[in-house]
Amino acid sequence: MTRILGIETSCDETGVAVVEDGRRILSSEVASQVPIHAAFGGVVPEIASRQHIRCISQLAQKAFSDAGVPPSGLDGIAATIGPGLMGSLLVGVNFAKALAYAWGLPFIPVHHLEGHIFSPFLTDNPPEFPFLALVVSGGHTSLIDCPRPHEYHIIGATRDDAVGESFDKVARLLDLPYPGGPSIQKAAEQGNPKAIRFPRAMTAGANAGLDFSYSGLKTAVLYEMRKTTAPIADVAASFQEAAVDVLVVKTRLALEQTGAARLVLAGGVAANRLLRDRLDAEIHVPVHMPPLSLCVDNGAMIAAAADSRLKHGLIGDLRATPNPNLPLA
Ligand code: KG4
Ligand code: ZN
Repeated sequence: MTRILGIETSCDETGVAVVEDGRRILSSEVASQVPIHAAFGGVVPEIASRQHIRCISQLAQKAFSDAGVPPSGLDGIAATIGPGLMGSLLVGVNFAKALAYAWGLPFIPVHHLEGHIFSPFLTDNPPEFPFLALVVSGGHTSLIDCPRPHEYHIIGATRDDAVGESFDKVARLLDLPYPGGPSIQKAAEQGNPKAIRFPRAMTAGANAGLDFSYSGLKTAVLYEMRKTTAPIADVAASFQEAAVDVLVVKTRLALEQTGAARLVLAGGVAANRLLRDRLDAEIHVPVHMPPLSLCVDNGAMIAAAADSRLKHGLIGDLRATPNPNLPLA
């Protein structure tokens, strides 16, 4: 049996968790900074790192007491090493390295996307390798072929905005509160998704492939807002329909091309109801998705990925430093 302390501070959530065997969450604390950054309409990096510093020790203490595990019961300390905001990453990585040094435990650095990919392993229905992963967040929109643990082939990615970023930017255009994803989803519930036909970029013609482009969709919403008389709810629903449509079309194509027998959905946008429902209905291989609580950034997914790294002898050392632009593969 192995137990890992996982720490996530790459953006605006401070997450600390204790996970057993990469499967069972013994405790998981997440402090969201959403209310703090909402006033600015987006994450302010300087404020984010200060906020991580302010709460990380208390969260760790609570994670230990909730788990009922003393430091001597741990097998490793993990933290997100990148990508993300440098000031934020430094807080979690230095906190983790200090604990690893003090307690004589291995320090296990984890790529943020690898963490997201491991989030469905924390459910009753964990995926088996090989699988295809659709990772959709504020910073990434990627289709990743995962043949075996810790080997990743990116077969499709966004050429401009990430899908979560487009939800956030379109929410601003529609005067909906930050973060944009949940507020667009909520507004869309009252709207007609067929009201406006927004473009589905790179789904047909010479450019159709596994890459994505979301900046044109945002611009199309901007132009529509200048002339439309449609209610905001209709614009939100039509935008969401187009954004999700592209994800479903490309995922289907990637499954066809790779012959993958399973799909893993992960990242902040994996919380989107329409996306979850459509993948469930339209993808004919088993789809593994994390519960909503594990879609947002959290320490448990980092611990789950680290547990597997430990078991595969892929640990780091105390010289590891954060890389805000760390590539996955
Ligand atoms: O993974 P995450 O917490 O942070 C990053 O690693 O980027 O993802 C945050 C992103 C934001 O862009 C947010 O608007 C989006 O996930 N998001 C959603 C929903 N909930 C969060 N997008 C669409 N629908 C949602 N329900
Ligand atoms: Zn994330």
